[in-house]
Amino acid sequence: MQVVITLGQFIIEKQNDFPYAKGELSRLLRDIGIAAKIVNREVNKAGLMDILGDAGTMNIQGESQKKLDVYANDQFISALKSGGECCIVASEENDEFVYIDGEVSKNAKYIVAIDPLDGSSNIDVNVAVGTIFSIYRRKTTDGKATLEDVLQNGTKQVAAGYVIYGSSTMMVYTTGKGVNGFTLDPSIGEFCLSHPAMKIPKDGTIYSINEGNYVHFPDGVKKYLKYCQVEDLESKRPYTSRYIGSMVADIHRNLIKGGIFIYPKTASAPQGKLRLVYECNPMAFLIEQAGGRATDGYERILEKEVVSLHQRSAIFIGSENMVYKAESLMHQFSPQVEDDVAETKLAKLGVIGGID
Ligand code: AHG
Ligand code: MN
Ligand code: MN
Repeated sequence: MQVVITLGQFIIEKQNDFPYAKGELSRLLRDIGIAAKIVNREVNKAGLMDILGDAGTMNIQGESQKKLDVYANDQFISALKSGGECCIVASEENDEFVYIDGEVSKNAKYIVAIDPLDGSSNIDVNVAVGTIFSIYRRKTTDGKATLEDVLQNGTKQVAAGYVIYGSSTMMVYTTGKGVNGFTLDPSIGEFCLSHPAMKIPKDGTIYSINEGNYVHFPDGVKKYLKYCQVEDLESKRPYTSRYIGSMVADIHRNLIKGGIFIYPKTASAPQGKLRLVYECNPMAFLIEQAGGRATDGYERILEKEVVSLHQRSAIFIGSENMVYKAESLMHQFSPQVEDDVAETKLAKLGVIGGID
């Protein structure tokens, strides 16, 4: 008989990898898994319930929030509050971070950054959506945790992962020792280890980008797209284009099959569209742990200075050799200009937050 390892069992077993672990991170991951199951239940019912449509409020980026965004946000925050291991939740859906006080959290050491529902525009059309999470240890040692505890570079993440609510629901995460994937078995209500030690192929044949923005892409990206489309049997080109519009789903597919996901700077999103803290850093940590690469075209995502909660970034992420190729064309045809360097300096001074 095949032995099934549940997420809970796996987390406890892996705790021994960290000699001084007190089980706090394990409990935090378990809390995220529980909230994910509750969100999964609601996502599955989305077509049946009167839950579709805008909730009527805007998030800080000026995008309308769907009801399930609000629901997922509330679920994760409340699971993290009652779990007692987290002192701050920073969410894509909240302008400011949420401080968690109370008796149960008074010794909490961890900060969680979360995109509670990624790809939410896909809910109405029954296409995969996700949750992205990222965990840091607080830097300050006494008193209330502060913004300084949240604004840490991606290299400081202690764990990160995503949940994909797709044709099946999966949780995929890393604690810095490789990547493991768990599939939710709805009959027993447990995430079960289905994809141990995940590795992204070094080369792939899939590129994922919103090509509708082509006219606004930097020349380096345009050249890379041409490279993907030219015939060359040896390197299996032309490549295949696949773009779902949910970062989680696009990256999940590329992780398994090999591929590159690009969201560059464009005229309408001059800093890039995706958020460094909630989307780029956790995905970069996970993909690097799976043997892939993640940069903004010039610099490793994980080493980018984090200056504000809702900061945006360009991202080139996926199979190592594909990202290297795209980067080399960026260097050649879209070298980093003075403006970018000046922009970074201003961002560091807090003059621009990189929100828009
Ligand atoms: P969110 O739903 O959390 O705002 O994220 C949507 C993101 C990401 O998931 C996706 O890859 C990208 O936006 C799609 O953007 P375009 O519609 O501009 O291609
Ligand atoms: Mn998102
Ligand atoms: Mn979102």
